[in-house]
Order: sequence, then structure tokens, then C-alpha cells
Amino acid sequence: MSPAAVLAGLGGWTPPRVVTNDMLAAELDTSDEWIRTRTGIHRRCVVPPGMSTGDLAVEAGSRALDSAGGGAVDAVVLATSTPDRPCPATAPSVAHRLGLGEVPAFDVAAVCTGFLYALATARGLIGAGIAGSVLVIGADAFSTILDPADRTTRVIFGDGAGAVVLRAGEVAEPGALLGFDLGSDGADAELITVPAGGSQQRSRGAPAAVADHYFQMDGKPVFSRAVRRMSGSARRVVADAGWEMSDVDVLVAHQANARILKACAAELGIAPERAVQNLDRVGNTVAASVPLAMADAAASGELAPGDRVVLTGFGGGLTWGATALRWPGIPVNDEPDAVRPGTEGTS
Ligand code: ACO
Repeated sequence: MSPAAVLAGLGGWTPPRVVTNDMLAAELDTSDEWIRTRTGIHRRCVVPPGMSTGDLAVEAGSRALDSAGGGAVDAVVLATSTPDRPCPATAPSVAHRLGLGEVPAFDVAAVCTGFLYALATARGLIGAGIAGSVLVIGADAFSTILDPADRTTRVIFGDGAGAVVLRAGEVAEPGALLGFDLGSDGADAELITVPAGGSQQRSRGAPAAVADHYFQMDGKPVFSRAVRRMSGSARRVVADAGWEMSDVDVLVAHQANARILKACAAELGIAPERAVQNLDRVGNTVAASVPLAMADAAASGELAPGDRVVLTGFGGGLTWGATALRWPGIPVNDEPDAVRPGTEGTS
């Protein structure tokens, strides 16, 4: 029987620069009241000048490695859609900076579902015997691709990184990933996009409009799809694990919007307080969203050893995915109080 992939370490990190709703309201036609009621977000963390996705990934990756007891891993998989550069992938330089030697390292791009896709990829490497342990990181510096004048996206997204170490083990162990549900629907690719900068736009030969270099999202249709896809995917992994929905102790869903989290939990018949929520402090951190929510929930005691946990995500592509596990007793090197203090901030 092929080995299972077992969660052995976890860490999260957000950059020190905090942007509150009031700070955004001072420069855009929006308000703290609108942002809180429509999204649930109070503040977000953004990279200071000169800091990039690779820097975020190194911070979270190093915390996950410490949580796993330090030492080496056999591969690094980095989920991001804001790589340090279009080419090469960011993962090899992250692996190098973490002192991991010449291990295989590559990026996975599935926007906000990226971490679930990266976890499944790592699970495959372990199951196939290609790697005995994998560092899986979700990191995005999304603020770097937002139009400074676009109130519809600036209020939602924040920067950050979360990471886990997976190691080969037994399926009966706490922390074993109990199966995956992954999907995509490219027919809706236009709903979440950065139109310029890729081969499609470059091959046209004409310079792109400035706005096309920025992230664009049609929020309303995305909202209903996020609820449907995240809950559908969660249902399938719960059934595959042989659980009933009432067995689920904690739901860790992509932190897109507090109303989406509430609707998702309601759709699944899970009490809202069992759905982890840290988006009030960090916003939507894209590929970092699920691991950062896990790290914060584990650090605060919301995730306890033995809990039946479902992770579910949704994002551009469109893409979605989910997995399930029993929470293991691992130390968590997240520092939510140190790196995400209070609600006041500086820009
Ligand atoms: N401040 C004030 N008013 C605003 C703002 C703002 N920041 N943004 C939009 N508005 C206005 C709109 O212009 C609109 O005005 P109108 O009625 O005069 O036309 C009104 O508020 C309502 O706008 P909606 O877009 O209908 O607002 P909605 O309630 O849908 O909330 C939001 C918008 C928060 C984006 C929501 O649709 C959402 O969360 N969508 C899902 C996003 C998501 O899940 N993304 C997942 C993946 S992201 C990824 O993969 C990268």
C-alpha cells in the first residue's frame, strides 16, 4: 500500500505593514462600515516596498520546518499567483534560502485554490515514493497586482503566507490527508483575471492598457460559485472519509468573505462558530488563505488534536478543491498576537 501524507508541521506569517479600513477610506470612495458589512474584513497586512512573495514564503516555510522539528525535506511546492518573477518559478530560490539543498522545487498556480492543489501534488509525490517529506507553501503578495484606484479589489485582498510539512506515514495516523476533491471550470476564466502580461496579450504585439496589468474580478457571480463549489467539494471529501457532515468539528474554508463563509457553513449544516475565520485581521490572502487560517486557528486553540477537519478552497480558473484530516498534535509557530496585533496600523 502506498504511504499516506501526514501533516507534521505548520506555520504562518504576515508582513508587518497593516492597512485598516479607515486608511483605505481616506484614499478611496469607500467606508469602514461598507467593508465590514459586505466582507467582514477590518484590516489586512501588505508588503512594504521591496518585500515580495518569496520573502513571505521563506518566513512561513521556516516556521513550518521548525514546527516539524527542523531538518530537511525532500521537495518544496509553492502555491502562488504572484511569483517573484514570471520566470523562473519562485520555489527554487525559496528552497535555497531555507537551506534545503538541491531538492526539487516548483510553483503551482490555482489562485485562491492554489494551496489545496499544492497539497494534492505533495500528497502525490509522497504516495508515489518520490518524496518522503514535502514543504508545501501558499504565499501571495497580491497587493502588488491590485489597481491602487480600484475600491472593489483593494478592500478585499491582503498579503501573507502559510506553510505545512507533510511526511510519509500511515492513513490511520492523526494528520493523514484522507483524500482530495479537485475541480476546475475554465468557461468562467474571465471572472477572475489579470488580462495582460502573459503570452496571450504579448503575442498580439500591441501594448496592453494599464488597467489590464491589474487584477480584475467580477465579484457578484464569483460569490455564488464560491459557496456552491466549496460546499460541494467539502461534501465529497467528507463522504470519501466515511464521515457524516455532523462529524465535522472544524471547517477551514478559503477566507474570501465572511458572508461566503457563513453561507458555506449553512449549506453544509455546520454551525457558523465551527467555521474558522481570520479574514477580519488578514483579508483574503489568496494562496495563503487556508494555511494561514489553519495556523491562526491552531495557535488560538480552535483546532485541537483529534478534531475532524475539512479544508476547502475556491479561486480563479475557476478552480476548487477540498481535503479532510484528523487534527494532529503539532506545535504551531504562528505568532498572531506578535505579527497581527490589535486593529491599529501604520501604512
Ligand atoms: N466601497 C463602497 N462601495 C463599493 C465598494 C467599496 N469598496 N465596492 C463596490 N461598491 C459598490 C458597488 O459599486 C455597487 O454599487 P451600485 O449598487 O451603485 O452599483 C455596490 O457597492 C454593491 O456592489 P456589489 O459588487 O454588488 O457588492 P457585493 O455585495 O457583491 O460585494 C464583493 C462585493 C465583496 C466583491 C463580493 O461580491 C464578494 O466577496 N465576491 C466573492 C469574491 C471571492 O470569493 N473571490 C474568491 C476568489 S478570489 C481569487 O481567486 C483571487
